[in-house]
Amino acid sequence: MNIHTYEKVWLIAALVLIVGFIATITYGSVALGITMVGDQEETIEPSELNDDERFGEPRVEQVGENEYEAYVIAQTFTFYPDPIEVPADSEVTFYVTSRDVIHSFSVAGTNINTMVIPGEVSKMTVEFDEPDEYGVVCNEYCGDFHHTMEGLLHVVPEDEFDMTELSVEADDEIELGDEATFDVAVENAALDDLETTVTLEIGNETFEETITVAGGETHETTFEVDSSELGEGDHDWTVTVDDYEESGTLTVVEDLEDEDETDDGDDEDGDDDSDGDTDGGEDDE
Ligand code: CUA
Repeated sequence: MNIHTYEKVWLIAALVLIVGFIATITYGSVALGITMVGDQEETIEPSELNDDERFGEPRVEQVGENEYEAYVIAQTFTFYPDPIEVPADSEVTFYVTSRDVIHSFSVAGTNINTMVIPGEVSKMTVEFDEPDEYGVVCNEYCGDFHHTMEGLLHVVPEDEFDMTELSVEADDEIELGDEATFDVAVENAALDDLETTVTLEIGNETFEETITVAGGETHETTFEVDSSELGEGDHDWTVTVDDYEESGTLTVVEDLEDEDETDDGDDEDGDDDSDGDTDGGEDDE
């Protein structure tokens, strides 16, 4: 059979096009890692998110040397946590779920994009090479303020990234002569141990303690400060751990009002010091 040259050219061109189309579709659906929101993940009740081990506290957690997991909650009209901070040169697996309606978790300028369905957990693993700042947007219409639903994703330089959290519980007001207590908790969400120094500055005094916080643990330190050294009045204090700082004011008074009054009827306790009344106390007589 004799096929005309032109006809051969058209046949070949048509074949090339068909193969091209199939290759494009295959590439798009397989090679780019696009998947449906996983039913391989177990389902999760939106009402039980607060008690959930992963989503009770939306956060980023270190799971390997350069591997992290981010637990993110989308709800009208915010993302938690916000900003999401991850280090450069890392591999981050995002687990995203919704507390209410359908949202999306879309990182502007990247191919990170997933629908977020209440009851389901969307999972994506992403590699971040360079420090950068991305906007996170919701592109599923979710209510009146859908257009305002946004968050931030910070990819910070490795040496600036740390997973330390500081919280301080301290007395507001104490009686002259008593000890003021400062309970300092240092949380280390990284895998490696954290060796650092906790510093408390109050008045002209400085207290220091060197601590080692094991990976994934919280270390508690208590400082006790003798108020007679400080004297009466307001004393500003600062607790510092690495780049973290918490501060407040301790008031030392001569006589502390009893604040634990029970309200069973009108109590006319005789031991109430009526003179030496200090400001700030709550008198209810
Ligand atoms: Cu959430 Cu739109």
